[in-house]
Amino acid sequence: MSETTKSLLAGSTKEALLTFENVNVFFSKKKFFGPRSQIKAVDNVNLRIAKGEILGLVGESGSGKTTLGRTAIGLQRATSGKVIFSNGEISVDVSASKGKQWKELRKYLQIIFQDPFSSIDPNMRVFDTLRIPLRAQGVKDHNEIEERILRVFNEVGLPQDILNNYVFQLSGGQRQRVSIARVLLFNPSLVVADEAVSMLDVSLKGDILNIIKKISLNFGASFLFITHEMAVAKVIADRIAVMYLGNIVELGSSEEVISKPLHPYTQALLQASPSIDPSLKDVYRTINIKGEIPSSSAHPSGCKFHTRCPFVMEKCKTNVPELKHIEGSHYVSCWLY
Ligand SMILES: Nc1ncnc2c1ncn2[C@@H]1O[C@H](COP(=O)(O)OP(=O)(O)O)[C@@H](O)[C@H]1O
Ligand SMILES: [Mg+2]
Repeated sequence: MSETTKSLLAGSTKEALLTFENVNVFFSKKKFFGPRSQIKAVDNVNLRIAKGEILGLVGESGSGKTTLGRTAIGLQRATSGKVIFSNGEISVDVSASKGKQWKELRKYLQIIFQDPFSSIDPNMRVFDTLRIPLRAQGVKDHNEIEERILRVFNEVGLPQDILNNYVFQLSGGQRQRVSIARVLLFNPSLVVADEAVSMLDVSLKGDILNIIKKISLNFGASFLFITHEMAVAKVIADRIAVMYLGNIVELGSSEEVISKPLHPYTQALLQASPSIDPSLKDVYRTINIKGEIPSSSAHPSGCKFHTRCPFVMEKCKTNVPELKHIEGSHYVSCWLY
């Protein structure tokens, strides 16, 4: 492990809840014509999620955000590296856990999806969508089931009378609240929210973001908040990690990343973001990144961003930049620094 990596993992006074250590997730893909190729969806990621923090994970589609999120909670195994979950009671490698331990981890590690229909059967009654997972974890007492359901309903601002409705009868906002209520049933330590507000319109988005903020405060839960929208990350996240083709290319407090973006890719994302504070516009360099994100099976050599970067230098084409500490909690992997 390099010195930078060590300092990155240890570099905060806050206690780590989840630590990615040299995590790789590779997929093998068969081309329609031709041989199999390897996709490096997550490529040597070192990252720490602190207790109670909301870590925003941003980047274009295809950058590996969902894969990293799934790996955080063990839905996807790492090809190599460790994913250490440590909450004071237990300390385990999520990526190597199985059997009873894996089932136990389900209580601590939860996920909310973009489309609640993908995780909740629309033809079920709302009450059952909450009762069934509780029973699966061994909660059988009727009074306890009722009490826990009412408590989480209250937390997400849903009225009791919809418990008897079918899921398909709910509005988009109500459905997303039900899916949040569902993950809260178990007092999770870490919730991965994967584009959880992307399908909601602006006013609902604000409501759901407020609920998530409140939950993180009331429950002390950490969030890995995945979004392709910088403006959403700015509102919700304590820190922001920017991902490009499997790598974390910039990391820092929201303040640092939004008002002092270092990586040309982050600058381009911010510049393209319509609802970021207009007074910051002149902080962002005018950057027009070229083309689209390269094919997932043919990552560029050196700095993977070099094929689109307006500041590309000779060494960018061959040498991989490390995620380097700049100041405060700000890190960047770019040869400009
Ligand atoms: N199960 C899978 N099998 C093969 N390739 C996958 C699989 N899941 C993701 N990928 C590939 O990994 C890369 C990253 O995908 P993903 O994690 O979904 O990114 P994001 O969430 O940032 O859009 C993409 O190129 C995607 O096609
Ligand atoms: Mg995704």
